[in-house]
Amino acid sequence: MDLKNKVILTGVKPTGTLHIGNYFGAIKPAIELGHQVHAVGGTHVMFVADYHAVNFMKDAAMLAQMTREIAAAYLALGLNPEQSLFYRQSDVPELFEFTVLLNNFTPKGFMNKAHGYKAAVDKNIAKGEPQDAGINMGLYTYPILMAADILAYDTDMVPVGKDQVQHVEIAADIAGAINACYGKQVLKIPQYLTQQHTEVLPGTDGRKMSKSYGNVIPLFGTDAELKKAVMGIKTDCQDINVPKNPDEILLFEIVRGVLPTEQVNEIEEGLRQGGMGYGTIKKMLLAGLIEQLTPLRDRYDYYMTHYEEVEAFLDVGATKARSLVRPVLNRFKDTVLGRI
Ligand code: TRP
Repeated sequence: MDLKNKVILTGVKPTGTLHIGNYFGAIKPAIELGHQVHAVGGTHVMFVADYHAVNFMKDAAMLAQMTREIAAAYLALGLNPEQSLFYRQSDVPELFEFTVLLNNFTPKGFMNKAHGYKAAVDKNIAKGEPQDAGINMGLYTYPILMAADILAYDTDMVPVGKDQVQHVEIAADIAGAINACYGKQVLKIPQYLTQQHTEVLPGTDGRKMSKSYGNVIPLFGTDAELKKAVMGIKTDCQDINVPKNPDEILLFEIVRGVLPTEQVNEIEEGLRQGGMGYGTIKKMLLAGLIEQLTPLRDRYDYYMTHYEEVEAFLDVGATKARSLVRPVLNRFKDTVLGRI
């Protein structure tokens, strides 16, 4: 993939407590991509999409806490704010001017088809409620705000999970409609980039790792919490000496997503030949997790207790972000309002 001089942008919504599935599946590859982009002279943009959380989060103290946690987490996990543009969406008001303009070029039908809105409607219908019950315009127009996030930087590529592909396509369609309308390239058409590692780390019960299932291995948990989660990974009761197919074993799936290749190979061999017990594997997994996660947890604790340092990075990022968005907004605005 040619990242040279490209603008690569990703937004992260503030969420609850992070788990290792978030880290190994999404955050780690995103941060590594940032390093690669920087190395070839591209622009890497990584921001906290706090306005995108307002449609479902009306507890302001909780929203502030979630925003702080996600910002501290990204820094702790290796995002370099000197290499990546790192800011809070709410600190870049130009984005909202952008959003208002985009509204005028977005067919309402696009929003009816957006999966977040559709899922909310389906839920209402299933409950026998009016289809739009409890649905606010923040949820309905979510993809337009996201299009502003993307289009405002002349973004080339947006790395996203599968669930966000539709949103990037909507942004591309809106930009295409605007360019067609004015007969020139007003806005750059973005592309989505789905992560190579599409395997999702399963939770301790074999379902997708998710807080709502209570099957997570926490990312910044204490050693005791990690131990409890790892020891709770579901196993079967086959005899220790029976040769097993590693691909059918949940514990191995988690091992493969977390431990270094050498150890993964050793465990794979042990399972295939028989003789390596689940208890031993869990101990290796726990030791590997503690070794990898302890420095991350320490850095996270540091940033949470020295939050002013995080705030300072975010402020610098917002100033820089505004200076990048301003000319793109002016180009868009001048075109639409006939000022040029
Ligand atoms: N909607 C994304 C999510 O739920 C977050 C997001 C907001 C985003 N704006 C973005 C992602 C722009 C990529 C680009 O994860």
